[in-house]
Amino acid sequence: MEQTQKKPRVFSGIQPTGSFTLGNYVGAVRNWPALQDAYDCIYSVVDLHAITVRQNPADLRRQSREAAAMLLATGIRPDKSIIFIQSHVPAHTQLSWVLGCFCPFGDLTRMHQFKEKSKKHPEDINGGLLTYPVLMAADILLYATDLVPIGIDQKQHLELARNIAQRFNGLYGDTFVVPDGYFPTVGAKVMSLQEPDKKMSKSDANANAVVHMLDEPDTILRKFKRAITDSEGTVRAGADKPGVTNLMSIYSVMTGKTFEEIQREFDGQGYGVFKEAVAGSVIDTFRPIQAEYRRLLADRAYLDGVLADGGAAAARLASRMLSKVYRKVGFVAPDALAH
Ligand code: TRP
Repeated sequence: MEQTQKKPRVFSGIQPTGSFTLGNYVGAVRNWPALQDAYDCIYSVVDLHAITVRQNPADLRRQSREAAAMLLATGIRPDKSIIFIQSHVPAHTQLSWVLGCFCPFGDLTRMHQFKEKSKKHPEDINGGLLTYPVLMAADILLYATDLVPIGIDQKQHLELARNIAQRFNGLYGDTFVVPDGYFPTVGAKVMSLQEPDKKMSKSDANANAVVHMLDEPDTILRKFKRAITDSEGTVRAGADKPGVTNLMSIYSVMTGKTFEEIQREFDGQGYGVFKEAVAGSVIDTFRPIQAEYRRLLADRAYLDGVLADGGAAAARLASRMLSKVYRKVGFVAPDALAH
């Protein structure tokens, strides 16, 4: 008998908070289009997560469309994958409530990101900041996700999602797929160009530390020229050379060259030539993405159509899992009411 092979499911999300950085691109987003053929992919603009820190409403609304346009511009194809805005599918928040009841408080308070964000926003340590990873678990578990492509900084959150899934399955029988992470081997974490022992972050106060995907070519060039290196003058990777190593891994991701090839390429050439080459590789990668991004944003009807279709498709899938979970925990099904 013929059997249609079901592709494994991929889910990932990105927050619509400000512009995407080179770090977002290298650590996460660039891997997403490549997964579309072998997997059934769902990509979400996670606006619910964004409001765990204060957002300007008009900016958030604009940035949600911009984030979707950027994902499409990097090569996510709506005819292959589902792309949608998280708040359009209420099942995320509904499942999040249930999962929260299966997540120990202590697991949430020890999350690195919670601790960091609490320190950064001491005036607003809200409940959403604490339960952020439960909502992320709901995002993932709703779609029976097998694989979650994420930056290494989200590994602890994924681990929490796995724990919740296992705990729930243990109590109620097989319900959730226990997801695996998918981490890039090179460039999983792009470091600040100014303090290369710190992650590149869009909120960095030093504008030269972070490259944005929408930066103009001469801005990108300037930032790389100013990147902190060391006094050795040799292009090689090593724990003692975080700045140069960071530039090498960026160049490696952009060109596909290995560290050995890069070391050979710049043998005896000093950092000036090397930095210009790194900048050039980033500029060449971002140029077509930027053009497509602008084209998409100018075509609001198309963009909104993609998001409406994506939201409807995601909602159909999500409601099946939510009903199953509601039934397992013992909620009365609304269609079971005798009336
Ligand atoms: N927390 C992720 C981040 O900041 C974004 C995210 C939300 C996500 N839900 C997700 C990533 C589900 C993967 C899967 O990067």
